[in-house]
Amino acid sequence: MPLEITTTPTTTPRSDAEVAEILTAPGFGTYFTDHMYVVEWTPERGWHDARVEAYGPLSLDPATAVLHYAQEIFEGMKAYRHEDGSVWTFRAEENARRMATSSGRLALPVLPEEDFLAAVDALVAADERWVPPYGGSSGEASLYLRPFMFASEAFLGVRPSQHVTFMVIASPAGAYFKGGIKPLSLWLTEEYTRAGRGGMGAAKTGGNYASSLVAQQEASAHGCDQVVFLDGAEGKYVEELGGMNLYFLYADGRIVTPALGTILEGITRSAIIELAGKMGHPVEERPFGIDEWREGVASGEITEVFACGTAAVVTPVGTLHWDGGSVEGATEPGELTMAIREQLVGIQFGRVDDTFGWMRRVI
Ligand code: PLP
Ligand code: COI
Repeated sequence: MPLEITTTPTTTPRSDAEVAEILTAPGFGTYFTDHMYVVEWTPERGWHDARVEAYGPLSLDPATAVLHYAQEIFEGMKAYRHEDGSVWTFRAEENARRMATSSGRLALPVLPEEDFLAAVDALVAADERWVPPYGGSSGEASLYLRPFMFASEAFLGVRPSQHVTFMVIASPAGAYFKGGIKPLSLWLTEEYTRAGRGGMGAAKTGGNYASSLVAQQEASAHGCDQVVFLDGAEGKYVEELGGMNLYFLYADGRIVTPALGTILEGITRSAIIELAGKMGHPVEERPFGIDEWREGVASGEITEVFACGTAAVVTPVGTLHWDGGSVEGATEPGELTMAIREQLVGIQFGRVDDTFGWMRRVI
């Protein structure tokens, strides 16, 4: 039986004028909508008290387990407004499934897929006026949705929490990277890794992002936009960026992306495997050596590199820097990168036929 959701509208919504002003330049992750979804779990009661209520601060006991042991997972997805005013999510079932997998790794309870979808739908419905207009704010603004689950029991013993909270919050989003679509410069960290065998690399959990921050600081200190992580075992294979998967396009039309295992199974990544295949570019998923990258770009065999993710969409990659060297990448977005991007964004905004059945209408 799906959970029943109680909705209590906020008594202090932002004015229409304020919302409209925010939607002209939403940025990323800065503004939050009027409501939030909350549901709680205990071993005795299972998931209970599902509700949509006014967005606002949480009051947590200082001993709340997540604050100490980081038993936490999250998702990232978007709702898109189409030209006819309708609102759609993209592959939301995949987010529900990935969250269930992350639950497994972090010893958290699984929220059933139907309740995950109903939670997202209920929040989007409550905050529909926060979904940016079609074509607004450089043409790609959407409502970013952040489902998350955390250990909310006040207890300092190290064991799975006996009280868990799942929430969804929403934030209107423009481009993740400022300054339009231009190639990112990347810093290869040879000191830090984000995942190891048996670790949490494939789970979407806060600890992976916490561990990426110092490497990202290192990247910024070297004037780079983002950091590239290598595998933790040998330091030879390319994994991913702190919040994006990577793709390599060859002059002969082949496309390679690092194999799954210790990386996040990106929903954009898997969509691109299907899209590129349909466009006549089969994608090889395999271990991809850092030397292949350096040598392939230097020799001209690799013609385009891009990063992808919900927040980043499809973003071209330029020069790769490391301690003691660099390999000069593209200075302009590549043709195939932009063609794949256009297909993906076209489906999300309803301009391209959704032959894969990826979009779900919410409103
Ligand atoms: N890799 C990491 C570490 C991420 O945080 C993300 C973003 O969610 C991705 C890859 C891309 O995943 P998706 O396409 O599902 O957003
Ligand atoms: C997303 O793309 O949804 C993420 O969670 C990654 C982060 C860079 C915001």
